[in-house]
This record gives sequence, C-alpha cells and structure tokens, in this order.
Amino acid sequence: MQCRCGKKRVRKSELHHRDGGEARSEQRGKCHADEKEADLSLLTLPPNPVCSGVSPLPTLSLAPMQDVSVLPLWRCLERRGGPDLYVTEYFRVHRDSHPEKTILRSINEMSGIKPVIAQMIGNDPEHLVRTTKLIQETSDCAGIDLNLGCPAPKVCGKAAGGALLRDRELIHRIAHELRSAVRGTLTLKTRIGFDSPEEFTALLELFASLPIDGLAIHGRTVKEKYQTPVHPESIERAVSSLPFPVTANGNIVSVDTALAMHRRTGAAGLMIGRGGIRNPWLFRQVKEALSGAEVHRPRLRDLRDYLLELGDEIDKEGDFDTETQLVHRLKKFTNYISSGISEGTLNDELRRTTSLSSFREICDRHLDSDLPFPVDPADDGKLFCGFCELV
Ligand SMILES: Cc1cc2nc3c(=O)[nH]c(=O)nc-3n(C[C@H](O)[C@H](O)[C@H](O)COP(=O)(O)O)c2cc1C
Repeated sequence: MQCRCGKKRVRKSELHHRDGGEARSEQRGKCHADEKEADLSLLTLPPNPVCSGVSPLPTLSLAPMQDVSVLPLWRCLERRGGPDLYVTEYFRVHRDSHPEKTILRSINEMSGIKPVIAQMIGNDPEHLVRTTKLIQETSDCAGIDLNLGCPAPKVCGKAAGGALLRDRELIHRIAHELRSAVRGTLTLKTRIGFDSPEEFTALLELFASLPIDGLAIHGRTVKEKYQTPVHPESIERAVSSLPFPVTANGNIVSVDTALAMHRRTGAAGLMIGRGGIRNPWLFRQVKEALSGAEVHRPRLRDLRDYLLELGDEIDKEGDFDTETQLVHRLKKFTNYISSGISEGTLNDELRRTTSLSSFREICDRHLDSDLPFPVDPADDGKLFCGFCELV
C-alpha cells in the first residue's frame, strides 16, 4: 500500500504547564502504512493518525466535538497525559465560509506537541478543496478529516454531516477531489448508516474504493444519535475488510469500555469523546492498562483541580463580557464532568450557578475529598447511554 501521509513537522512546544514546565515535545517518526499489510496485529498509532507503526497499542485520539474539543480542554488533557492526536471541532464549509480563526490557532498551538487533524463539514467539493488549501496554508494540521456523521437537523437539513451518507456518489466525488488537495492524511469520520445498520454493507464497499488513509467509525446510525448502545460488530467488519486503518468510536468512557472496544473490534485506533471530557486521565489510564502497567487512580480532589483549571483556561481564551457568560460556557463541560458524582446533585448545583465564586464553592464542597473519582459516569440515557453493553 502506498503511504500517502505527509510527515509531521515538529516545532518547539508553545504549550506550558501551569507550573511553568514546558510540555513534552515529541519527535514524530516516519509513517509506515504499508506495514499494515504485513501484520495487522501490529497496527498502532502516532506518528500519524492513520499510519501504522510498530507498537501493539492502538492510537488514542480525542474525538472532534463542537464547542468542546477546544484549546482550553486540550491543554488540560495534555497536562494529564493526553491522547496521541487531536481532531478539531469542525470547520463549517460553504460558499461564503472562511476557516474559523480560533480553530486555526488551536491547531497551531497544539501541533508542536501532538498531531492535530482538522475536521471539515460541508458537501460542496469545490469549497471543501478551497477550505482545505486555506487550512493547510495557515496551520500545521497533520491531516484533513471530513464529517459524515453529524445528526443535527440544521446540518442534515443542508445535506451535510450524517446526511451525506445518503449520497454515496457525492462522497466518492468529494474524496477524490480532496485527495489531490490534502498534503497530510485524508480521513473520514462516519456513522454506520443513516436510518439502519443494514446500510453499512454498501458504505463499506464505497469506503474500500476511496483514496483515503483511514476511517473513524462512530458505531451508531445517524438516526440513533447518541441514545443507544453502539454496534461494535459493524466496526469489526470494517476493520477486517478495509485496506486502511480503522478507528473505533462511541461509548468509550472508561478503561473497561476501551479494552472491550479494542478486543471486540481489533481497531487500529480508539477515539474518545465525552468520556475524555469527563475523565481527563482516561487516555493515560487506557495506555497504562493496554501496556500492563498500574492504572492511575485519581481522587475527587484531582477532579476539582481539573474543573478549576479548565475554568481558568476558558477564561484566558474567551472574550467574555460578564462572569455569567464565562460560567455558562463552562457548563458545556461540567455537564459531562459531574456525571456520576454526588448522585447528580453536583451537576444540579453547577447548572444553577451564575458566578465564579459559587462555582468554586460548589466544587470545593463536593470534591475536596480523598475519595476515588468514580470509574464510570451515570448511564442515565441522557449524556451517557448504553456503555455497559460494550463490556
Ligand atoms: C458536544 C458534542 C459535539 C460533537 N461535535 C462533533 C463534531 O464537530 N464532529 C464530529 O465528527 N463529531 C462530533 N461529535 C461526535 C463525537 O465526535 C463522537 O463521535 C461521539 O460523541 C461518540 O463518541 P463518545 O461516545 O466517545 O463521545 C460531537 C459529540 C458531542 C457530544
């Protein structure tokens, strides 16, 4: 297999730890996608999101998440180990769009430390190519990813995101046009169908024919949104039939669910979204578990420190007119972070607060403790749903 991946340029880290120490700047090696053909069991991660190397560990990535997979969170994750690579929230692509400056800045800060993939959402080949070139000219992204999974009505209503799965011919055209514009890796992030998992057979046939470097699969249909267990058997089918690395996504919220997803799919990569917001040590813990090392066990107090640190980072990055706006912004994260703690009362109280001083007081009251941070979130069918079925 011909490797299409560009080598990642390494530059000195611009990210500093809170204690003043400089964050680790990793030397990225060569990519060897052709090794996948030699031995599937050796698929791994970095240097490049989709190229295989020689370690038996799957590549861990942070899922793209609108308004949440952002620089303040990335900095907090990095201080706790972090994933092997980051995927940005999506750049919106249409006739009049310009790449969002905050996302470009996030890529440029993080890309000296870990590879960052820029995700786009849209359906017009010409403007996707135009945007790809602009993103590549103004950022150090390691690759471009196209969103084929977003279930939001405002996106699907414009025949983009998950709705693209209904137009395989268009996906084919977009992938071919992007291929000649993309310097690094070209990947897709898909669901297993729009209405039904039965659509996956035809989609697999399509994906196998595309000039792409990898595929991340959120193991639900678009219709299932986030409210069902995932279908690991569909991801396993993709792993065993596609000629490029597959990344498994959906409902990885703990070490056990990560190991189960890895065991049940054999995927070259594991992508973690909401579970990584809630538990910023999860990437480190999964790596420790996969390599047989002792797994780090954070305490509630560590979670309190994370929440306060995230608040500081969001404050630093945002342009808030009032404290209340900042606290509202924080709630996009705290809904996930407080899941499974104090039987929901922490989240209830945080949801009602409008000031930073009461935010801190609530965090201290619930979390200033040596008790262990719960391994699992609440499987309440709202924010987290059906992850127990994975194990
Ligand atoms: C708040 C939020 C925003 C999301 N935004 C994006 C996005 O911009 N692009 C995308 O491909 N998926 C997006 N997703 C889907 C996630 O990338 C991921 O596929 C999904 O959350 C399942 O993974 P998880 O169970 O690990 O969270 C989003 C999910 C959430 C919860």
